[in-house]
Amino acid sequence: MTLEAIRYRAGSLQILNQLLLPHQTAFESITSVQEGWEAIKSMKVRGAPAIAIVGCLSLAVELKNGPQRERDELVTFVCDSLNHLVTARPTAVNMSKAAAELAEFVVQQSKEDNVSTQTLQESVIGWIEEMLEKDVSDNKKIGNFGAQHILSGISQGKVTILTHCNTGSLATAGYGTALGVVRSLHSMGRLARVFCTETRPYNQGARLTAYELVFEEIPATLITDSMVSIAMKEKGISAVVVGADRVVANGDTANKVGTYQLAIGAKHHKIPFYVAAPSTSCDLSLESGREIVIEERPAQELTDINGARIAAPGIDVWNPAFDVTPTSSSQGASSRSWGSSCPRSYRLHSLEG
Ligand code: MRU
Repeated sequence: MTLEAIRYRAGSLQILNQLLLPHQTAFESITSVQEGWEAIKSMKVRGAPAIAIVGCLSLAVELKNGPQRERDELVTFVCDSLNHLVTARPTAVNMSKAAAELAEFVVQQSKEDNVSTQTLQESVIGWIEEMLEKDVSDNKKIGNFGAQHILSGISQGKVTILTHCNTGSLATAGYGTALGVVRSLHSMGRLARVFCTETRPYNQGARLTAYELVFEEIPATLITDSMVSIAMKEKGISAVVVGADRVVANGDTANKVGTYQLAIGAKHHKIPFYVAAPSTSCDLSLESGREIVIEERPAQELTDINGARIAAPGIDVWNPAFDVTPTSSSQGASSRSWGSSCPRSYRLHSLEG
């Protein structure tokens, strides 16, 4: 059985409410762009690829079930909806990249002679539906490339991986990016164990990654974020594999806060550090990580756990949801990203050749 977080068929979208995991498995219907936006903003659905897919699918279902629109009205509705969806979360590039491409597509298609409104609408829905299938096949390729690469210098025996946040089926259309690499290693019989971080403050690792790993019976151990250095020192970590929310032109990578310290620790311990990301997470329009907007989330995510205050009243809080790992911080630890179709210039430096 595979874990699924997005259930879609023409005109119908349901998402697994990730806020309730691991205690409850509850799917919720998304019937409009506004509901899609709210699900992303409230983190019922999260993870860079999943944000873009659910955002665009919310538009597909609203189009399918909504009123017939005139051609210009349809183009305006699609573009306005995409502009709105982009505002839900700023750091992951996937939604804004999909929005730019789909907006260009609908404008171009609308200029075709004799294109009917019905055909135009169907082509927009078809464009969105392809995102789902492409993401799963990209992830499987990333998983296989990544696993083969990690195993390339190791002719036999098993490897131990350290990963961060949630990059699996729950963060994508299925299979996962960094967790896809872990899945591939496991299915090849070459994974000894994966260590996953709790991922404070939102606990994507403890709640979601641990849930996926237990669900699939992959040998896994949960650690807190502050244990990564000792794990690198004492637990025979063969490689660190993380996902990405935005990889910019020079290779700087925004990912869940805590990734930067993993890269520094990996460099110190001479452990290979890898970013597993599809080309939908690459943003060549930005030169360096300094230009990436980092989302800051509510203080309550740090001060409270399950609604109960744990922090001393009155303390100031800083809660950046992501950090940027400069490409240089992982050099020396042999790092590489396996973007499914990223051109070479997107890749982080590999010191292996
Ligand atoms: O705040 P989140 O849960 O959306 O952050 C998710 C991450 O940072 C993931 O590592 C990243 O999106 C890659 S998901 C394949």
